[in-house]
Amino acid sequence: MAQAFDISLDSLQSRAVASPNGASRPARSNPIYGGSVHGKGTFFLETFGCQMNEHDSEKVAGVLVSRGYRQVESPEAASLILYNTCSIREKAAHKVFSRLGEYRGKQGEGRIIGVLGCVAQQEGEEIFERAPWVSLVCGSASYRKLPELLAQLEAGNHRVMGLDTDTDETFETEVTRRDNPWRAYLTIIEGCDKACAYCVVPYTRGPERSRASESILREVRQLADLGYSEVQLLGQTVNSYLDPSADKMRFSDLLLSVADVPGIRRVRFTTSHPRDFRADIVAAIESQPKICNHVHLPVQSGSDRILRLMQRTYSRAEYLEKIAMIRGAQRRISITTDIIVGFPGETEEDFQETLSLLDEVRYDGLFSFKYSPRPNTPALAMKDPISEEEKGRRLTVLQERQRQIQSERNESLIGTVFETMVSGKSRRESQWSGYTSCHRVLNFTSQEKELLGSYMQVRVTGAGPNSLAGEHVT
Ligand code: SAH
Ligand code: SF4
Ligand code: F3S
Repeated sequence: MAQAFDISLDSLQSRAVASPNGASRPARSNPIYGGSVHGKGTFFLETFGCQMNEHDSEKVAGVLVSRGYRQVESPEAASLILYNTCSIREKAAHKVFSRLGEYRGKQGEGRIIGVLGCVAQQEGEEIFERAPWVSLVCGSASYRKLPELLAQLEAGNHRVMGLDTDTDETFETEVTRRDNPWRAYLTIIEGCDKACAYCVVPYTRGPERSRASESILREVRQLADLGYSEVQLLGQTVNSYLDPSADKMRFSDLLLSVADVPGIRRVRFTTSHPRDFRADIVAAIESQPKICNHVHLPVQSGSDRILRLMQRTYSRAEYLEKIAMIRGAQRRISITTDIIVGFPGETEEDFQETLSLLDEVRYDGLFSFKYSPRPNTPALAMKDPISEEEKGRRLTVLQERQRQIQSERNESLIGTVFETMVSGKSRRESQWSGYTSCHRVLNFTSQEKELLGSYMQVRVTGAGPNSLAGEHVT
């Protein structure tokens, strides 16, 4: 994956702060692990994939912590090892099986191994065949059943599964053990009803189910009370949100209501689907500065022919109308996107149209991928596969073009003062890092002693393609 818009983590010293909600509970010893060499009721959880998976892991950890398990940093120290998996591209799915391979021949060492998430849903029982030492397989649409499945494991069951996707429920828990002390993720819509020809998500996460607005707002108020100042609303198609409660809030109304919660200073949302992106969302961003001025609007391709084959439900012209709507706002709103190169049948001409779209939109950030054939998807049967070599070439050309655009856009910001939410401290003295509302990484200098979690005014003094540099304005 090419990530042209994010922060380099190793430049930061991440702050591992126990989330206030539940993490500090003392671990209860768990009878089934008594005598185990790996510690009593300890779990290790590794997460692959998107922010929704990361947030699911926070909820899974919450369920485990509330049952008396204690989280540990290494699989060796754990009695329960969980992998929350991603299946979006072949490489991601492979990673999981290579992790599982590490336990080959180590059955009976007292550990329980579980596979959660999108690979679990996609492969189902097959996982037990490929890795017989696995005891739990559960997809995200069945996480409501996790306590029950854990109880079965604790009772000595060796193969337990949760693979239903025909549920109206979204996964909510009493306790969520959040990793980030300032920015809280909140899933407002699960699953996906779109049918993009290349994508596994509709199969791995089930149909779209929205969470009631009153329940979302209740959690946001709790988060604000706990000290979170930023919330990020999540969904594979977050703006397809349909309030199932009598309030019938539109997505844009929900954004405004979340922003109104006292204590909340920033509201983000991702990912928006172009089809359901309408003027009321732009109007909400314009009218409420707490709603961040950043829209992630994946386009996937600039060619109408490929968009049709991808079943994306919009044309290039329709997509560009949405872009014009966003660019027409008084407030400068950042736009980022996702692009796939090398979809079956993509000609050089189609690819050139993607490049010309890049020039036309001039995105602030891009996530770009080589097409990867996935099980069950319609694109799997399509003719004219593109060679890996050619996909690689197109990806490099695309990224190079975008790098140039990003450099220029970022340079145009030199001299601007941004409010920056400080989320990282460099090993170097007086060096801090944070995010602007438009989701740019801003590295800056300040002599202050403790800034993490605070909002600072920072003037941009330098710019690269992936980040800005600046100094704290006193
Ligand atoms: N729901 C979001 C994102 C889904 S997954 C949306 O509709 O935009 C994130 C990104 O992964 C997608 O936007 C797409 O660019 C990429 N992706 C999905 N399936 C892929 C595949 N089979 N091969 C390569 N990239 C893929
Ligand atoms: Fe996948 Fe398309 Fe749904 Fe996004 S909208 S999750 S790309 S099927
Ligand atoms: Fe991956 Fe599943 Fe997310 S396939 S990208 S973890 S929805």
